[in-house]
Amino acid sequence: MSNQPLTAGFITKNFGRYNPMSLDSYLSIGGYEALKKAIKMDGEDIATLIANVKVKGRGGAAYDMGKKWSQSRAVIKPKKVVICNADEGEPCTFKDREVIKNDPFNLIEGMTICGHVVNAQDGYIYLREEYRHLRERLQNAIDQATEKNLLGDNILGTGFSFHIHLYSGAGAYVCGEGTALIRSIEGKGGRPRMKPPFMKVSGLFALPTTVNNVESFAIVPHLLMDDKGYYGSFGSGESIGTKLISVAGNVNNPGVYEIPFGTTVRDIIYGLAGGVKDGRKIRLIQFGGASGKISDERILDTPYTYDDLKAAGVTVGSGAILVIDDRTTVLEFLRHTQDFFVHESCGQCTPCREGNLHIQIILKKLAEGTATPDDLRYMKKIATVMTTASLCGLGESAQNALFSAMEVFPETFKLGGAH
Ligand SMILES: Cc1cc2nc3c(=O)[nH]c(=O)nc-3n(C[C@H](O)[C@H](O)[C@H](O)COP(=O)(O)O)c2cc1C
Ligand code: SF4
Repeated sequence: MSNQPLTAGFITKNFGRYNPMSLDSYLSIGGYEALKKAIKMDGEDIATLIANVKVKGRGGAAYDMGKKWSQSRAVIKPKKVVICNADEGEPCTFKDREVIKNDPFNLIEGMTICGHVVNAQDGYIYLREEYRHLRERLQNAIDQATEKNLLGDNILGTGFSFHIHLYSGAGAYVCGEGTALIRSIEGKGGRPRMKPPFMKVSGLFALPTTVNNVESFAIVPHLLMDDKGYYGSFGSGESIGTKLISVAGNVNNPGVYEIPFGTTVRDIIYGLAGGVKDGRKIRLIQFGGASGKISDERILDTPYTYDDLKAAGVTVGSGAILVIDDRTTVLEFLRHTQDFFVHESCGQCTPCREGNLHIQIILKKLAEGTATPDDLRYMKKIATVMTTASLCGLGESAQNALFSAMEVFPETFKLGGAH
């Protein structure tokens, strides 16, 4: 294993250091100093600061966050909106939950700083239904910050006003997609829509909208107070700083870890996560949730960075790492993943609605030993059409696991059973 430190304590710096139900407790460890500093700064300078350390959105698409804030800022409209995507519906992803649970005031502070940068007056948190037990914690943080004039009208007498509203989803994976999320808040069916118009121009209630993930917002207050450049001392190239990851599956210590970018996959699985349970062999590793690609043990010495993972055939995605041991076959795994997408497809567009169903049927035939060469040809074709012609990211990425399995585990697709 490498000599690099395995944990960084930047995004998770406040975890366990204050009472998450008490603003006074948060203030006692330096909470809200970042907002006070931010309000005195030009918004564009804050966007540049974020861009300089190449922070990429942590919801899965890895869009350049400084650039997003700068682009949102450039849209001139009297009313604008900020949304925190706390839907965290990607299977095996549970890092945002830890931020909300341990550091809710920091999240609210990060959103408020975003409001200042993009000139928005309202913020919305879209919390997944399954996290309803964290509602009280978030609402409490909003209420206490409002009481102390750190949120609401004329914050700290600066003339800047920003209100945060808390919404719960109803448990649909697709509502994590930005446009579906917006429709869900608007009280419509949670289904994605075509883009353009892009959300930064016309999003929630047709207002210019900036959507970011929980972890993305949580980084910002720490970055603003990071005069010594601690964050920038980790990683390299396009992957600077640290990342929250959630490790799940057949490992001894599943959990959320903050790693410096560049930590090897081996250090994550055999160091932080304590290795595979019962000393078994790894069958496959999936990166970035159910919509992510899979690999085998050959990826273990790859550094966890955007570029290195991409070169190795997978992506960071949602930050999930799922380890599956040799008791499960690749085909069993793929069928399980496919069932998820059949269930979660919103059914609005044909490639995703029909494609997921057909691939589910072909995988079943493959497992039963009744698939034909035509089935395999169609499966590849259908998966390709889904990836290119689906209306939203759900359909586009649903077959990532299948495509990567074809590359890494070609024996899975041999006809006649016994996989
Ligand atoms: C089907 C689907 C589900 C998604 N679920 C989430 C989610 O639960 N949380 C999240 O932050 N982003 C999710 N995203 C990505 C969002 O659309 C969006 O890119 C993200 O919230 C932007 O924030 P970021 O730039 O900080 O990553 C999902 C995308 C798709 C296509
Ligand atoms: S790709 Fe799937 S989830 Fe997305 S709009 Fe089409 S049917 Fe709905």
